Amino acid sequence: MTTLGVNIDHVATIRQARKTVEPDPVAAAFLAELGGADGITVHLREDRRHIQDRDVEILRQTVRTHLNLEMAPTEEMIEIALRIKPDYVTLVPEKRQEITTEGGLNLLSDLDYFCSVVDKLQSASIPVSWFIDAQESQIKAAAQTNALFIELHTGQYAEAHDATSRKQELDFLIQGTQQARELGMSVNAGHGLTYWNVHPVACISGIEELNIGHTIISRSVLVGMERAVSEMKLAIQGNNISKQLKNQENKGR
Ligand code: PXP
Repeated sequence: MTTLGVNIDHVATIRQARKTVEPDPVAAAFLAELGGADGITVHLREDRRHIQDRDVEILRQTVRTHLNLEMAPTEEMIEIALRIKPDYVTLVPEKRQEITTEGGLNLLSDLDYFCSVVDKLQSASIPVSWFIDAQESQIKAAAQTNALFIELHTGQYAEAHDATSRKQELDFLIQGTQQARELGMSVNAGHGLTYWNVHPVACISGIEELNIGHTIISRSVLVGMERAVSEMKLAIQGNNISKQLKNQENKGR
């Protein structure tokens, strides 16, 4: 069965909009695990636009499933990973101006450097996953670096405008998964997956974990809205929120 890594970056995006302390991605990770998340993923970006160093440090201590640290393959990030020791790292390309990761890394652009990055991290017992497009040359290069994992970029599949191109993108993901498995790597996938498009990708034989963020955080904002507003109405009337929660707990017993 394909497992689910929940990316909680956008909980931090909401917090950073006000540079306050809520909502805390650490609390979100805890609740995601209660909901059945098999892993927690955070992307520590160079510009620290959402997840902060403090979040990763605390998550390392509190996550009970596994912590996947997404990061660019830079000296700064490698140092942080070696210190914090996540369960694995996913190495992604990063551009300052992008809204989100725009595509897979081009491993052919500097293969020697990428080999040395894998060596540094995996020598410290931190498995490496390369976030790449489902292209034969990229998958071959990932195997040459000795990385234990790849994460196939599902963005093109998610953005396909019609059934024919969606099917074609799905076929690329199926072929890519097969190639990577034959080369001895484990395969994850993610980016742009939603409640509506996830199932065909989850059915690809050989994919271990799906990393999904935006659609889950979006839905959690909406499904929690009714309760959040009714609790605020009670708080306005002088009902302390901690007391309300205690009462609910007692009722549940
Ligand atoms: N995998 C990688 C490598 C990513 O960069 C992201 C986005 O941070 C995701 C998965 C999750 O993508 P989404 O938020 O679209 O589900």
